[in-house]
Amino acid sequence: MEKEVLDCSLKDFWENKAKNIFWFKKWKKILEWDYPYAKWFVGGKLNASYLCLDQNIKRGLKDKVAIYWQDESGQEQSFTYNQLYKQVNKFAYALKNIGIKKGDIVILYLPMIPQAIISMLAVARIGAIHTVVFSGFSSKSLKDRINDTKAKFLITADVGIRRGRVIPLKDFVDDALNDVSCIEKVVIVKRSNRKINLKENRDLLYDELINNSENYVEPEPVEATHPLYILYTSGTTGKPKGIVHSTGGYLVYVYNTFKNCFGIDEKTVYWCTADIGWVTGHSYVVYAPLMHGITIVMYEGAPNYPDLSVWWKIIEKYNVNIFYTSPTAIRMFMQYDDKYIKKHDLSSLKRLGSVGEVLNPQAWHWFFNKIGKGKCQIIDTWWQTETGGFMMSPTAKDDIEKLKPGSVNFPLDGIYADVVDKNGCSVTLGQKGFLIIKRPWPGIMIGIHNDDEKYKKIYWSKFKGSYYPGDYARKDEDGYFWLLGRADETLNIAGHRIGTAEIEKVAVSNEFIIEAAVAGIPDNIKGDGFVVFAVIRNGFDNKNNLKEQVILNFRNQIGAFVKPKNVYFVNSLPKTRSGKILRRVLRSIVLGESLGDITTLENEACLDEIKDKVSSSVAI
Ligand code: PRX
Repeated sequence: MEKEVLDCSLKDFWENKAKNIFWFKKWKKILEWDYPYAKWFVGGKLNASYLCLDQNIKRGLKDKVAIYWQDESGQEQSFTYNQLYKQVNKFAYALKNIGIKKGDIVILYLPMIPQAIISMLAVARIGAIHTVVFSGFSSKSLKDRINDTKAKFLITADVGIRRGRVIPLKDFVDDALNDVSCIEKVVIVKRSNRKINLKENRDLLYDELINNSENYVEPEPVEATHPLYILYTSGTTGKPKGIVHSTGGYLVYVYNTFKNCFGIDEKTVYWCTADIGWVTGHSYVVYAPLMHGITIVMYEGAPNYPDLSVWWKIIEKYNVNIFYTSPTAIRMFMQYDDKYIKKHDLSSLKRLGSVGEVLNPQAWHWFFNKIGKGKCQIIDTWWQTETGGFMMSPTAKDDIEKLKPGSVNFPLDGIYADVVDKNGCSVTLGQKGFLIIKRPWPGIMIGIHNDDEKYKKIYWSKFKGSYYPGDYARKDEDGYFWLLGRADETLNIAGHRIGTAEIEKVAVSNEFIIEAAVAGIPDNIKGDGFVVFAVIRNGFDNKNNLKEQVILNFRNQIGAFVKPKNVYFVNSLPKTRSGKILRRVLRSIVLGESLGDITTLENEACLDEIKDKVSSSVAI
């Protein structure tokens, strides 16, 4: 990117977006661009908790419900904006009292309970920086993240609950802290009657802190470039990267993209099923919706427990208008009978959203027809932890008829995306290439915690001057963008480079296949080969014929060189709790290698079936 990376009209564009949120002090400069570092709204001061709470109280929303929370046993709780404001203030005061200051990093290891949101906002209120560690992570993963941040403070709960199982989070924390020296104080939200061991001079109870606290803490106005949070995301190297987000640019970005794409109004009831431990949980469960003063739904539990109707029941119960979820969840539901859905009135829904993976046309149509009843737009949002907010997506004003199932539409206003070849030259329309972003935008991360080299190398060195997200894409003749999977999950079959996502897309285009994952394995002659693991629709049992059909589909839809070494039909695929398929594990099983770190795996039991199928089958 050249020195003047944004022209005047683009600067005006972002400046106008920044004016939509409240600043204690106005910025002096819209963008300071010191390649590859962007500082947005330099000189401006604001506070995230003030925007999500005080501002809404001032707007007269104090009695409006901010959060409807429910767990899988049906236990529920709600918070008005005023109640949330009070809790956050009390907790922020308590955190200040135990010594947390502006710029300190606070680890949050919490399940999907309102105190997770309260903690994020309380930390932000006093200018500290939160690092949420997904509560499905093991104590080893927690320890690695604590060590990388050198945080002194940690907030957790005694337990999390999922599928009726009690997850002893405090025990995991104790394990993690056995050989960690930086943590000085641990705050525990006690939610069960389980006895917990409190470590003297270290452990404090959330309730006691709140009960002995003050009702108000002045929000700390922080510089626009002050970090709001650090969130870890995995990379190709296996060592997670701590993605750092600013306060000013980030909040401006998520506020505006949320409004633009989901078209909310003051009555909107919104439910995003993402866990607080992921970026979607940060940007579009907490910050964007609460800044807008809308009502959100929060659910602690799995989508299919206690039964397959739990999500649809929640939509009906709270009259959810906007429902934002993942393709993995959609494909899971597709396997089953409609009866779980039909029992519930979903007529409150106005708009649907999807994120995290390619929403293949089959799943798109299912979501559109079965959940949206053919009347809701599907907002398929492409973005990443690193981008802070939506980058490519339909917007609320787009006609349903103009959406193309499987495509993420166009880059949003202010985002300049292109598809290029390995030399950085635009490919012709319809051709596959690397996705790049050519101009900075306010939501972009401000760096990787303690790793400038990695930041420059991973994102800014492959295509000089542009941001490289690591995805393959294609732009069609009408300018629509289609994501084709990670550029680092690719196979080279007889000299043909092909994304595993592309192969999977063909596999799931078969009407009897719900979900598929491809594991790349070495091939002596062709370089790379692959096997397919597929989950088939309940009740379908002509597997031999189906195998042939799948192979024929590859041949017809991609080319004869795309022939799997085997197709395994399994009941479920190994996944993390955030729904990402662990293809690496499938590959290790096929190759008979050690499975490596499987602590993030949610459904370990599925591995036995997969191992059985692999060991008892013959190559095609
Ligand atoms: O490969 C893209 C895929 O998920 C990656 C980002 O993952 P993460 O940082 O964990 O954030 C997920 C939630 C924002 C991207 O590089 N991805 C995300 N959304 C889509 C997608 N692939 C296709 N279509 C999407 N809508």
